[in-house]
Amino acid sequence: MKPLAQMAEAVLRCADGREKTAMSRAFAAQWQAARTAGETPEIGHADPPLHPSRPAAPELLNPRDVPRRRPGTPEGRIALLHAVAHIELNAVDLHWDIIARFTDTKLPMGFYDDWVKAADEESKHFNLMCDCLEAEGSFYGALPAHAGMWRAAEDTVDDLMGRLAVVPMVLEARGLDVTPGMIEIFKRAKADGAVSALETIYAEEVAHVAYGSKWFHFLCGRFDEDPKERFHGLVRKYFHGHLKPPFNEEKRAEAGIPPDFYWPLTETGEP
Ligand SMILES: [Fe+2]
Ligand SMILES: [Fe+2]
Repeated sequence: MKPLAQMAEAVLRCADGREKTAMSRAFAAQWQAARTAGETPEIGHADPPLHPSRPAAPELLNPRDVPRRRPGTPEGRIALLHAVAHIELNAVDLHWDIIARFTDTKLPMGFYDDWVKAADEESKHFNLMCDCLEAEGSFYGALPAHAGMWRAAEDTVDDLMGRLAVVPMVLEARGLDVTPGMIEIFKRAKADGAVSALETIYAEEVAHVAYGSKWFHFLCGRFDEDPKERFHGLVRKYFHGHLKPPFNEEKRAEAGIPPDFYWPLTETGEP
């Protein structure tokens, strides 16, 4: 078995979506089998690319130029599934990137267990969204997608705490806010396959946010820093713009993100 950081780099350098997720799931299975057998596999070091490899399609556009479609129409629902597929593929790379990028920081094995599990789940999520698109006669790559999703990774390329603050604790937490509304759209359309795929995603994303919060607090403890103050400082430094309510306060609480972490970062600064 390759050192984990090298597995991560191989996933990042794989361009095709389905191939990337197949490789990601196979590596995750190897890691988990070794861990279940009581082994302590090598983390090693790697040379992760600044931008992960991606397929030639979808075309990546500035968010302003991505055509908007009404979710009440079949085309609108396909566009929504396509947008989620794009987010999930980005998430696969984000989770392997955090593994490969920060190997100079000594971290417990549990850190790697968590991100390997999350990367495996993101791979499953991308596949689920591709299955839904294909069931509707479409596919990932058929529509344009948002450029700039990798920006958070680039901005925090040398700051692990910044990465944890912005990616799982802001961006993935945002997913918890918006997913219930998406599930409603597909329920109204009686699209059972998409409903169950999105419900799987929604349930598993809570843990990803929780991993972010857990390891952020762990590092604050190591450096004797106040987590809330540090979180606010890092999000103001690396995240562009305000956080937007309404928040899913219940799921955020379940994931270990209390209201005084996010409300001060909104436009008004309070509920
Ligand atoms: Fe996901
Ligand atoms: Fe996630």
